[in-house]
Amino acid sequence: MPGTCVIGLQWGDEAKGKLVDILTGDHDVVVRYAGGANAGHTVVSGGQTWKLSLIPSGILRDGVTCVVTGGVVLDPASAIREIEGLESRGVRVDGKLLVSDRAHVVFPWHIEEDRILNAALSGGEAIGTTGRGIGPCYRDKVGRSLAIRLGDLYRDTFPAKLREIVRVKNQSLASWGVETPLDAAAIEADYARFATRLRPLVADTTAFLLDAAEAGQRLLFEGAQGALLDVDHGTYPFVTSSNSSGVGVAAGSGVPGRWVDRVIGVLKAYSTRVGGGPLPTEQDNATGQYLRDRGNEYGTVTRRPRRCGWFDAVAARYTARLSGVDELAVMLLDVLGGLDEIKVCTAYEIDGRRTTQFPSHVDDLRKAVPVYETLPGWQGEIADVRDHAALPREARAYLARLAELVGRPVTVASVGPDRDQTMFLPAAGARPWPRAQSKTPAKA
Ligand code: GDP
Ligand code: IMO
Ligand code: MG
Repeated sequence: MPGTCVIGLQWGDEAKGKLVDILTGDHDVVVRYAGGANAGHTVVSGGQTWKLSLIPSGILRDGVTCVVTGGVVLDPASAIREIEGLESRGVRVDGKLLVSDRAHVVFPWHIEEDRILNAALSGGEAIGTTGRGIGPCYRDKVGRSLAIRLGDLYRDTFPAKLREIVRVKNQSLASWGVETPLDAAAIEADYARFATRLRPLVADTTAFLLDAAEAGQRLLFEGAQGALLDVDHGTYPFVTSSNSSGVGVAAGSGVPGRWVDRVIGVLKAYSTRVGGGPLPTEQDNATGQYLRDRGNEYGTVTRRPRRCGWFDAVAARYTARLSGVDELAVMLLDVLGGLDEIKVCTAYEIDGRRTTQFPSHVDDLRKAVPVYETLPGWQGEIADVRDHAALPREARAYLARLAELVGRPVTVASVGPDRDQTMFLPAAGARPWPRAQSKTPAKA
Protein backbone atom coordinates (compact mmCIF):
# COMPACT_ATOMS: atom_id res chain seq x y z
CA MET A 1 0.00 0.00 0.00
CA PRO A 2 1.65 3.25 -1.03
CA GLY A 3 2.50 6.10 1.27
CA THR A 4 1.95 9.84 1.51
CA CYS A 5 4.41 12.68 2.13
CA VAL A 6 3.61 16.06 3.62
CA ILE A 7 6.31 18.53 2.65
CA GLY A 8 6.60 22.23 3.52
CA LEU A 9 7.35 24.20 0.35
CA GLN A 10 8.49 27.47 1.90
CA TRP A 11 10.76 28.28 4.87
CA GLY A 12 8.97 26.12 7.44
CA ASP A 13 5.87 26.66 9.61
CA GLU A 14 3.46 26.09 6.74
CA ALA A 15 1.11 24.21 9.11
CA LYS A 16 2.42 20.76 8.27
CA GLY A 17 1.46 19.56 11.77
CA LYS A 18 -2.20 20.40 11.21
CA LEU A 19 -2.29 18.55 7.90
CA VAL A 20 -0.44 15.51 9.24
CA ASP A 21 -2.90 15.28 12.10
CA ILE A 22 -5.81 15.28 9.64
CA LEU A 23 -4.18 12.69 7.36
CA THR A 24 -3.19 10.41 10.22
CA GLY A 25 -6.76 9.13 10.23
CA ASP A 26 -6.03 7.35 6.95
CA HIS A 27 -2.59 5.93 7.77
CA ASP A 28 -1.05 3.25 9.96
CA VAL A 29 2.42 4.70 10.54
CA VAL A 30 3.55 8.34 10.81
CA VAL A 31 7.25 8.97 10.21
CA ARG A 32 9.57 11.88 11.08
CA TYR A 33 12.63 11.48 8.89
CA ALA A 34 14.74 14.67 9.18
CA GLY A 35 15.55 17.57 11.45
CA GLY A 36 15.25 17.48 15.21
CA ALA A 37 14.00 19.65 18.03
CA ASN A 38 14.23 22.67 15.71
CA ALA A 39 10.77 21.73 14.43
CA GLY A 40 7.62 23.00 16.10
CA HIS A 41 4.38 21.54 14.74
CA THR A 42 1.07 22.77 16.10
CA VAL A 43 -2.16 20.79 16.17
CA VAL A 44 -5.36 22.38 17.46
CA SER A 45 -8.38 20.25 18.17
CA GLY A 46 -11.42 20.61 20.35
CA GLY A 47 -10.04 23.73 22.00
CA GLN A 48 -6.77 21.98 22.88
CA THR A 49 -3.43 23.05 21.43
CA TRP A 50 -0.57 20.58 21.03
CA LYS A 51 2.99 21.53 20.11
CA LEU A 52 5.06 18.67 18.74
CA SER A 53 8.76 18.96 18.12
CA LEU A 54 10.57 15.60 17.76
CA ILE A 55 7.58 13.32 18.01
CA PRO A 56 5.40 12.87 14.92
CA SER A 57 2.10 14.74 15.03
CA GLY A 58 0.38 11.37 14.51
CA ILE A 59 0.93 10.58 18.20
CA LEU A 60 -2.33 12.37 19.01
CA ARG A 61 -4.39 9.55 17.52
CA ASP A 62 -4.67 5.96 18.67
CA GLY A 63 -4.07 2.96 16.45
CA VAL A 64 -1.03 4.53 14.75
CA THR A 65 2.65 3.78 15.17
CA CYS A 66 4.88 6.85 15.19
CA VAL A 67 8.46 6.49 14.07
CA VAL A 68 11.48 8.77 14.49
CA THR A 69 14.02 7.52 11.96
CA GLY A 70 17.80 7.62 11.71
CA GLY A 71 17.65 10.78 9.59
CA VAL A 72 16.62 12.73 12.68
CA VAL A 73 19.08 14.18 15.20
CA LEU A 74 17.73 13.33 18.61
CA ASP A 75 18.14 15.41 21.74
CA PRO A 76 17.13 12.81 24.33
CA ALA A 77 16.42 15.33 27.08
CA SER A 78 14.11 17.18 24.75
CA ALA A 79 12.44 13.96 23.56
CA ILE A 80 11.80 12.82 27.12
CA ARG A 81 10.36 16.21 28.09
CA GLU A 82 8.03 16.01 25.12
CA ILE A 83 6.94 12.45 25.96
CA GLU A 84 6.28 13.42 29.58
CA GLY A 85 4.37 16.51 28.46
CA LEU A 86 2.11 14.39 26.24
CA GLU A 87 1.61 11.71 28.90
CA SER A 88 0.73 14.34 31.51
CA ARG A 89 -2.11 15.39 29.16
CA GLY A 90 -3.35 11.83 28.75
CA VAL A 91 -1.70 10.94 25.42
CA ARG A 92 -0.19 7.47 25.55
CA VAL A 93 3.28 7.33 23.99
CA ASP A 94 4.86 4.05 25.08
CA GLY A 95 3.85 1.27 22.74
CA LYS A 96 3.06 3.82 20.00
CA LEU A 97 6.47 5.40 19.40
CA LEU A 98 9.66 3.92 17.95
CA VAL A 99 12.99 5.73 17.78
CA SER A 100 15.82 4.64 15.52
CA ASP A 101 19.02 3.30 17.00
CA ARG A 102 20.68 5.01 14.02
CA ALA A 103 19.54 8.50 15.07
CA HIS A 104 22.47 10.72 15.98
CA VAL A 105 22.42 12.08 19.50
CA VAL A 106 22.57 15.78 20.34
CA PHE A 107 24.93 16.48 23.24
CA PRO A 108 25.47 19.68 25.27
CA TRP A 109 28.53 20.57 23.18
CA HIS A 110 26.39 20.70 20.04
CA ILE A 111 24.15 23.29 21.62
CA GLU A 112 27.17 25.29 22.77
CA GLU A 113 28.78 25.08 19.32
CA ASP A 114 25.50 26.14 17.69
CA ARG A 115 25.44 29.26 19.89
CA ILE A 116 29.07 30.15 19.17
CA LEU A 117 29.09 29.46 15.43
CA ASN A 118 25.76 31.15 14.76
CA ALA A 119 27.01 34.33 16.42
CA ALA A 120 30.38 34.01 14.68
CA LEU A 121 29.17 34.07 11.09
CA SER A 122 31.19 37.19 10.52
CA GLY A 123 31.07 39.48 7.53
CA GLY A 124 27.36 39.11 7.08
CA GLU A 125 24.09 37.95 8.47
CA ALA A 126 23.81 35.19 11.09
CA ILE A 127 21.86 32.08 10.08
CA GLY A 128 19.68 32.66 13.12
CA THR A 129 19.41 29.01 14.07
CA THR A 130 16.98 27.67 16.62
CA GLY A 131 19.92 26.98 18.96
CA ARG A 132 19.04 23.30 19.31
CA GLY A 133 22.47 21.98 18.25
CA ILE A 134 21.13 20.77 14.91
CA GLY A 135 23.96 21.90 12.58
CA PRO A 136 26.81 20.78 14.85
CA CYS A 137 25.19 17.35 15.39
CA TYR A 138 24.70 16.79 11.64
CA ARG A 139 28.26 18.00 11.05
CA ASP A 140 29.60 15.39 13.48
CA LYS A 141 27.37 12.74 11.89
CA VAL A 142 28.89 13.35 8.48
CA GLY A 143 32.39 13.73 9.97
CA ARG A 144 31.90 10.38 11.80
CA SER A 145 34.86 10.56 14.24
CA LEU A 146 33.06 12.59 16.93
CA ALA A 147 29.57 11.20 16.50
CA ILE A 148 27.41 9.08 18.78
CA ARG A 149 24.25 7.32 17.60
CA LEU A 150 21.42 6.35 19.91
CA GLY A 151 22.38 2.67 19.60
CA ASP A 152 25.88 3.50 20.92
CA LEU A 153 24.44 4.49 24.30
CA TYR A 154 23.67 0.81 25.00
CA ARG A 155 27.18 -0.49 24.27
CA ASP A 156 30.00 -1.06 26.76
CA THR A 157 32.21 1.14 24.63
CA PHE A 158 30.04 4.23 25.26
CA PRO A 159 31.80 5.69 28.36
CA ALA A 160 35.27 5.55 26.78
CA LYS A 161 34.01 6.97 23.50
CA LEU A 162 32.21 9.79 25.30
CA ARG A 163 35.29 10.70 27.36
CA GLU A 164 37.47 10.85 24.25
CA ILE A 165 34.98 13.06 22.42
CA VAL A 166 34.62 15.36 25.43
CA ARG A 167 38.44 15.73 25.54
CA VAL A 168 38.53 16.86 21.90
CA LYS A 169 35.46 19.07 22.26
CA ASN A 170 36.91 20.81 25.33
CA GLN A 171 39.96 21.75 23.28
CA SER A 172 37.93 23.29 20.50
CA LEU A 173 35.50 25.00 22.89
CA ALA A 174 38.49 26.51 24.77
CA SER A 175 39.88 27.82 21.48
CA TRP A 176 36.54 29.57 20.95
CA GLY A 177 36.83 31.21 24.37
CA VAL A 178 34.63 28.90 26.44
CA GLU A 179 36.10 28.96 29.94
CA THR A 180 34.22 26.16 31.69
CA PRO A 181 35.10 22.73 30.29
CA LEU A 182 32.47 20.05 29.77
CA ASP A 183 32.23 17.51 32.58
CA ALA A 184 32.39 14.05 30.98
CA ALA A 185 31.25 12.22 34.14
CA ALA A 186 28.15 14.40 34.54
CA ILE A 187 27.23 14.04 30.87
CA GLU A 188 27.73 10.27 31.07
CA ALA A 189 25.41 10.04 34.09
CA ASP A 190 22.73 12.17 32.39
CA TYR A 191 22.86 10.23 29.13
CA ALA A 192 22.80 6.87 30.93
CA ARG A 193 19.56 8.02 32.56
CA PHE A 194 18.12 9.17 29.23
CA ALA A 195 19.15 5.89 27.60
CA THR A 196 17.31 3.89 30.26
CA ARG A 197 14.12 5.92 29.80
CA LEU A 198 14.19 5.62 26.01
CA ARG A 199 15.23 1.97 25.84
CA PRO A 200 11.75 0.50 25.29
CA LEU A 201 11.30 2.75 22.25
CA VAL A 202 14.62 2.07 20.51
CA ALA A 203 14.41 -0.08 17.38
CA ASP A 204 15.82 -0.68 13.93
CA THR A 205 13.21 1.57 12.33
CA THR A 206 14.46 0.96 8.78
CA ALA A 207 13.62 -2.74 9.14
CA PHE A 208 10.32 -1.85 10.81
CA LEU A 209 9.28 0.53 8.02
CA LEU A 210 10.33 -1.79 5.19
CA ASP A 211 8.35 -4.61 6.82
CA ALA A 212 5.38 -2.29 7.28
CA ALA A 213 5.48 -1.09 3.65
CA GLU A 214 5.80 -4.63 2.33
CA ALA A 215 2.92 -5.76 4.56
CA GLY A 216 0.66 -3.15 2.99
CA GLN A 217 0.57 -0.64 5.82
CA ARG A 218 -0.05 2.97 4.90
CA LEU A 219 2.90 5.21 5.71
CA LEU A 220 2.66 8.97 6.23
CA PHE A 221 5.91 10.94 6.12
CA GLU A 222 5.87 14.16 8.11
CA GLY A 223 8.24 16.74 6.71
CA ALA A 224 9.97 19.11 9.08
CA GLN A 225 11.19 22.59 8.14
CA GLY A 226 10.55 23.56 4.52
CA ALA A 227 12.06 22.85 1.13
CA LEU A 228 13.76 26.27 0.98
CA LEU A 229 15.66 25.30 4.14
CA ASP A 230 17.01 22.12 2.49
CA VAL A 231 20.77 21.93 2.98
CA ASP A 232 21.43 21.02 -0.67
CA HIS A 233 18.58 22.71 -2.51
CA GLY A 234 17.53 25.62 -0.30
CA THR A 235 18.83 29.15 0.21
CA TYR A 236 22.25 27.96 1.39
CA PRO A 237 23.86 28.81 3.80
CA PHE A 238 20.61 30.13 5.33
CA VAL A 239 19.19 26.65 5.66
CA THR A 240 18.95 23.85 8.16
CA SER A 241 21.39 20.91 8.04
CA SER A 242 19.18 18.20 6.58
CA ASN A 243 17.33 17.49 3.34
CA SER A 244 14.06 19.03 4.36
CA SER A 245 12.55 19.01 0.86
CA GLY A 246 10.85 15.96 -0.63
CA VAL A 247 14.18 14.60 -1.80
CA GLY A 248 15.10 13.82 1.83
CA VAL A 249 12.34 11.31 2.51
CA ALA A 250 14.07 8.16 1.25
CA ALA A 251 17.52 8.97 2.64
CA GLY A 252 16.19 10.00 6.03
CA SER A 253 13.77 7.12 6.51
CA GLY A 254 15.38 4.25 4.62
CA VAL A 255 12.12 3.78 2.70
CA PRO A 256 12.67 4.09 -1.04
CA GLY A 257 10.49 6.38 -3.13
CA ARG A 258 8.66 3.44 -4.71
CA TRP A 259 6.53 3.26 -1.55
CA VAL A 260 5.34 6.84 -1.92
CA ASP A 261 2.59 7.66 -4.37
CA ARG A 262 1.23 10.89 -3.02
CA VAL A 263 3.17 14.04 -2.17
CA ILE A 264 1.25 16.94 -0.70
CA GLY A 265 3.03 20.29 -0.76
CA VAL A 266 2.03 22.57 2.11
CA LEU A 267 2.03 26.32 1.53
CA LYS A 268 1.01 29.30 3.54
CA ALA A 269 -1.16 31.69 1.55
CA TYR A 270 1.70 34.19 2.01
CA SER A 271 5.40 33.88 2.96
CA THR A 272 7.13 33.73 6.31
CA ARG A 273 10.66 33.11 7.38
CA VAL A 274 12.26 33.00 10.82
CA GLY A 275 16.00 33.57 11.11
CA GLY A 276 18.42 35.05 8.58
CA GLY A 277 18.69 34.89 4.80
CA PRO A 278 16.85 36.49 1.90
CA LEU A 279 13.07 36.61 1.72
CA PRO A 280 12.45 38.34 -1.62
CA THR A 281 8.80 39.24 -0.99
CA GLU A 282 9.36 40.43 2.60
CA GLN A 283 7.11 43.28 3.69
CA ASP A 284 8.99 45.04 6.46
CA ASN A 285 6.10 47.47 6.84
CA ALA A 286 2.48 47.73 7.94
CA THR A 287 1.41 44.91 5.58
CA GLY A 288 4.00 42.56 7.10
CA GLN A 289 2.80 43.50 10.57
CA TYR A 290 -0.83 42.91 9.52
CA LEU A 291 0.09 39.37 8.42
CA ARG A 292 2.14 38.78 11.58
CA ASP A 293 -0.69 39.90 13.84
CA ARG A 294 -3.45 38.00 12.05
CA GLY A 295 -1.34 34.89 11.51
CA ASN A 296 0.15 35.01 15.02
CA GLU A 297 3.49 34.73 13.29
CA TYR A 298 5.80 34.09 16.21
CA GLY A 299 8.05 31.01 16.18
CA THR A 300 6.71 27.85 17.85
CA VAL A 301 10.19 26.89 19.10
CA THR A 302 11.89 30.20 19.80
CA ARG A 303 8.96 32.66 19.84
CA ARG A 304 10.92 34.93 17.48
CA PRO A 305 8.67 37.15 15.33
CA ARG A 306 8.50 35.63 11.86
CA ARG A 307 9.34 37.81 8.89
CA CYS A 308 6.27 38.09 6.65
CA GLY A 309 5.65 38.88 2.99
CA TRP A 310 3.58 38.14 -0.09
CA PHE A 311 3.27 34.70 -1.67
CA ASP A 312 6.28 33.86 -3.82
CA ALA A 313 5.20 31.70 -6.76
CA VAL A 314 8.74 31.52 -8.21
CA ALA A 315 9.98 29.87 -5.03
CA ALA A 316 6.88 27.67 -4.60
CA ARG A 317 6.95 26.40 -8.17
CA TYR A 318 10.60 25.47 -7.73
CA THR A 319 10.03 23.59 -4.48
CA ALA A 320 6.87 21.88 -5.74
CA ARG A 321 8.88 20.46 -8.64
CA LEU A 322 11.87 19.65 -6.43
CA SER A 323 9.70 17.75 -3.97
CA GLY A 324 7.71 15.88 -6.63
CA VAL A 325 4.48 17.41 -5.36
CA ASP A 326 1.15 16.12 -6.70
CA GLU A 327 -1.17 18.56 -5.00
CA LEU A 328 -1.15 21.64 -2.78
CA ALA A 329 -2.59 22.42 0.63
CA VAL A 330 -2.94 26.19 1.06
CA MET A 331 -3.00 27.06 4.74
CA LEU A 332 -3.78 30.24 6.71
CA LEU A 333 -5.93 31.60 3.89
CA ASP A 334 -8.05 33.41 6.50
CA VAL A 335 -5.07 35.60 7.42
CA LEU A 336 -5.34 37.48 4.11
CA GLY A 337 -8.90 38.60 4.87
CA GLY A 338 -9.50 42.36 5.10
CA LEU A 339 -6.85 43.38 2.58
CA ASP A 340 -8.01 45.48 -0.37
CA GLU A 341 -5.39 43.97 -2.63
CA ILE A 342 -3.17 40.90 -2.42
CA LYS A 343 0.09 40.64 -4.28
CA VAL A 344 1.71 37.51 -5.63
CA CYS A 345 5.28 37.37 -6.90
CA THR A 346 5.27 35.81 -10.37
CA ALA A 347 8.88 36.49 -11.47
CA TYR A 348 12.14 38.04 -10.29
CA GLU A 349 14.17 40.80 -11.89
CA ILE A 350 17.85 40.02 -11.29
CA ASP A 351 20.43 42.44 -12.69
CA GLY A 352 17.74 43.82 -14.98
CA ARG A 353 16.78 40.39 -16.35
CA ARG A 354 13.40 38.86 -15.74
CA THR A 355 13.33 35.22 -14.70
CA THR A 356 10.98 32.63 -13.25
CA GLN A 357 13.84 30.34 -12.30
CA PHE A 358 14.74 30.24 -8.62
CA PRO A 359 18.42 31.25 -8.27
CA SER A 360 20.92 28.63 -7.09
CA HIS A 361 23.17 31.17 -5.37
CA VAL A 362 22.04 33.20 -2.41
CA ASP A 363 23.75 36.36 -3.71
CA ASP A 364 21.51 36.28 -6.78
CA LEU A 365 18.45 35.68 -4.62
CA ARG A 366 19.44 38.74 -2.55
CA LYS A 367 19.38 40.81 -5.73
CA ALA A 368 15.98 39.48 -6.84
CA VAL A 369 13.38 42.21 -7.16
CA PRO A 370 9.93 40.61 -7.15
CA VAL A 371 7.59 41.21 -10.06
CA TYR A 372 4.10 41.32 -8.59
CA GLU A 373 0.66 40.58 -9.88
CA THR A 374 -2.12 42.23 -7.88
CA LEU A 375 -5.31 40.38 -7.09
CA PRO A 376 -8.41 41.74 -5.38
CA GLY A 377 -8.74 40.92 -1.69
CA TRP A 378 -11.90 40.11 0.23
CA GLN A 379 -13.52 41.63 3.28
CA GLY A 380 -14.93 39.77 6.24
CA GLU A 381 -13.78 36.63 8.00
CA ILE A 382 -13.76 33.20 6.36
CA ALA A 383 -12.81 31.18 9.47
CA ASP A 384 -16.26 29.59 9.59
CA VAL A 385 -16.45 28.65 5.93
CA ARG A 386 -16.30 24.88 5.39
CA ASP A 387 -17.19 24.65 1.75
CA HIS A 388 -15.06 25.92 -1.13
CA ALA A 389 -18.12 27.18 -2.94
CA ALA A 390 -19.01 29.38 0.05
CA LEU A 391 -15.66 31.21 0.02
CA PRO A 392 -15.72 34.79 -1.28
CA ARG A 393 -15.22 34.87 -5.04
CA GLU A 394 -11.88 36.66 -4.58
CA ALA A 395 -10.59 33.94 -2.24
CA ARG A 396 -11.51 31.24 -4.76
CA ALA A 397 -9.82 33.23 -7.52
CA TYR A 398 -6.73 33.59 -5.34
CA LEU A 399 -6.50 29.81 -4.78
CA ALA A 400 -7.03 29.17 -8.49
CA ARG A 401 -4.25 31.60 -9.39
CA LEU A 402 -1.82 30.01 -6.93
CA ALA A 403 -2.56 26.60 -8.44
CA GLU A 404 -1.93 27.96 -11.90
CA LEU A 405 1.34 29.65 -10.96
CA VAL A 406 2.72 26.75 -8.95
CA GLY A 407 1.51 24.24 -11.52
CA ARG A 408 -0.31 21.87 -9.18
CA PRO A 409 -3.97 21.62 -8.09
CA VAL A 410 -5.01 22.97 -4.70
CA THR A 411 -6.89 20.22 -2.92
CA VAL A 412 -6.96 21.61 0.61
CA ALA A 413 -7.63 25.09 1.95
CA SER A 414 -7.29 25.89 5.62
CA VAL A 415 -9.05 28.83 7.25
CA GLY A 416 -8.05 28.44 10.89
CA PRO A 417 -5.84 26.40 13.21
CA ASP A 418 -8.51 23.87 14.23
CA ARG A 419 -8.81 20.46 12.57
CA ASP A 420 -12.32 21.40 11.53
CA GLN A 421 -11.33 24.64 9.81
CA THR A 422 -10.32 22.80 6.69
CA MET A 423 -11.94 22.26 3.31
CA PHE A 424 -11.18 19.69 0.66
CA LEU A 425 -11.43 20.90 -2.90
CA PRO A 426 -12.40 19.04 -5.97
CA ALA A 427 -9.54 19.45 -8.42
CA ALA A 428 -9.20 18.11 -11.92
CA GLY A 429 -6.59 15.38 -12.05
CA ALA A 430 -6.15 15.15 -8.26
CA ARG A 431 -7.14 12.06 -6.31
CA PRO A 432 -10.09 12.47 -3.99
CA TRP A 433 -9.15 12.83 -0.39
CA PRO A 434 -9.41 9.59 1.52
CA ARG A 435 -11.47 10.55 4.47
CA ALA A 436 -12.05 7.32 6.29
CA GLN A 437 -10.68 8.91 9.49
CA SER A 438 -10.38 5.45 10.94
CA LYS A 439 -8.17 6.55 13.85
CA THR A 440 -9.71 7.96 17.00
CA PRO A 441 -8.49 11.43 17.91
CA ALA A 442 -6.77 11.46 21.32
CA LYS A 443 -8.85 13.03 24.02
CA ALA A 444 -7.23 15.35 26.49
P1 GDP B 1 4.43 23.59 11.05
O1 GDP B 1 5.78 23.76 11.65
O2 GDP B 1 4.49 23.55 9.57
O3 GDP B 1 3.67 22.43 11.60
O4 GDP B 1 3.61 24.91 11.40
P2 GDP B 1 3.56 25.66 12.84
O5 GDP B 1 2.72 24.87 13.77
O6 GDP B 1 4.92 26.02 13.29
O7 GDP B 1 2.88 27.02 12.41
C1 GDP B 1 1.60 27.08 11.87
C2 GDP B 1 0.72 27.94 12.79
O8 GDP B 1 -0.46 28.31 12.11
C3 GDP B 1 0.26 27.22 14.03
O9 GDP B 1 0.18 28.13 15.10
C4 GDP B 1 -1.12 26.70 13.64
O10 GDP B 1 -1.96 26.51 14.75
C5 GDP B 1 -1.61 27.83 12.80
N1 GDP B 1 -2.53 27.47 11.72
C6 GDP B 1 -2.61 26.33 11.01
N2 GDP B 1 -3.51 26.42 10.01
C7 GDP B 1 -4.03 27.67 10.12
C8 GDP B 1 -5.01 28.40 9.37
O11 GDP B 1 -5.56 27.94 8.38
N3 GDP B 1 -5.27 29.67 9.77
C9 GDP B 1 -4.68 30.24 10.85
N4 GDP B 1 -5.02 31.48 11.18
N5 GDP B 1 -3.74 29.59 11.58
C10 GDP B 1 -3.43 28.33 11.21
P1 IMO C 1 9.13 23.49 11.28
O1 IMO C 1 9.26 22.00 11.16
C1 IMO C 1 10.84 27.45 10.53
C2 IMO C 1 15.22 27.74 10.53
C3 IMO C 1 15.86 28.55 11.65
C4 IMO C 1 17.09 29.08 10.93
C5 IMO C 1 17.49 27.90 10.04
C6 IMO C 1 18.56 27.01 10.65
O2 IMO C 1 8.43 23.94 12.50
O3 IMO C 1 8.60 24.09 10.02
P2 IMO C 1 18.59 25.22 12.62
O4 IMO C 1 18.28 25.38 14.10
O5 IMO C 1 17.77 24.20 11.93
O6 IMO C 1 20.06 25.04 12.37
O7 IMO C 1 18.21 26.66 11.98
O8 IMO C 1 16.31 27.14 9.85
N1 IMO C 1 14.32 26.65 10.97
C7 IMO C 1 12.98 26.72 10.89
N2 IMO C 1 12.16 27.72 10.50
N3 IMO C 1 10.32 26.24 10.88
C8 IMO C 1 11.12 25.22 11.24
O9 IMO C 1 10.66 23.98 11.48
C9 IMO C 1 12.52 25.44 11.29
N4 IMO C 1 13.58 24.67 11.62
C10 IMO C 1 14.67 25.41 11.40
O10 IMO C 1 15.01 29.58 12.09
O11 IMO C 1 16.73 30.14 10.09
MG1 MG D 1 6.79 25.08 12.92
